[in-house]
Amino acid sequence: MDEKMKVLDLDLFYNDFQALFDINLQVMNNEILSFIGPSGCGKSTLLKCLNRMNDLVMGCKIDGKITLDGEDIYAKSYDVNKLRKRVGMVFQQPNPFPMSIYENIAYGPKTHNIKNKRDLDEIVESSLQKAAIWDEVKDKLKKNALSLSGGQQQRLCIARAIAINPEVILMDEPTSALDPLSTGKIEELTQELKKDFTIVIVTHNMQQASRISDRIAFFLNGVIVEQGPTLDIFQNPKNEKTERYITGRFG
Ligand SMILES: Nc1ncnc2c1ncn2[C@@H]1O[C@H](COP(=O)(O)OP(=O)(O)O)[C@@H](O)[C@H]1O
Ligand SMILES: [Mg+2]
Repeated sequence: MDEKMKVLDLDLFYNDFQALFDINLQVMNNEILSFIGPSGCGKSTLLKCLNRMNDLVMGCKIDGKITLDGEDIYAKSYDVNKLRKRVGMVFQQPNPFPMSIYENIAYGPKTHNIKNKRDLDEIVESSLQKAAIWDEVKDKLKKNALSLSGGQQQRLCIARAIAINPEVILMDEPTSALDPLSTGKIEELTQELKKDFTIVIVTHNMQQASRISDRIAFFLNGVIVEQGPTLDIFQNPKNEKTERYITGRFG
């Protein structure tokens, strides 16, 4: 497995508050890497660093380096728009645009200069297919996306992320607002998606992490305590804090 992204000696500050300490991490091609750990330990913060979403946060300062295919994404000359096209994101709360199902998916490709109706139709269909929601919406593409259920909206948001053909998809607790059935569908979907994409997912659901991930990074107070293959983390953790956390004997 080749390396897709790499984080090197990263410290992150929100003004005077240090939220991440000396983070070193690899993301491999076509894997599902999960970030686990208690609330407030820096999982979302690190996830957002991977496509420079923290650029938008006032007072946020980063030391260290993150690469995508070996290129420093924080280099001055690096094109952030291109980065966000290559590294897409899905959030905790489904957030479809208040427009039709079709337009939700076509929006991104249009901003990247795909104008031809037939091309757009094809992207819309294939993205919805890949996000396992095509059958449920194919007869109502003109309907407002907000009329869908929460679980459908989240798969629509995944389709929207896929539509611009990213290489990496970041997901921040994508199922925490969903019912168990919708959660199961999205978990299944991740297993299909990793054939085409690399996925980094934040979850505070340990069962979910164990079901879907290839590797896991365990966070505590802004530090990655341990990272490794899912089985090692769950069955043979090296660090006592990891063990306490995964056995539920810890906050
Ligand atoms: N925009 C922000 N400004 C200041 N502090 C923040 C901001 N976002 C997060 N934090 C702080 O950084 C720490 C890590 O937060 P976060 O990455 O959201 O944790 P997690 O996703 O693991 O719950 C927390 O102490 C949080 O309060
Ligand atoms: Mg978070």
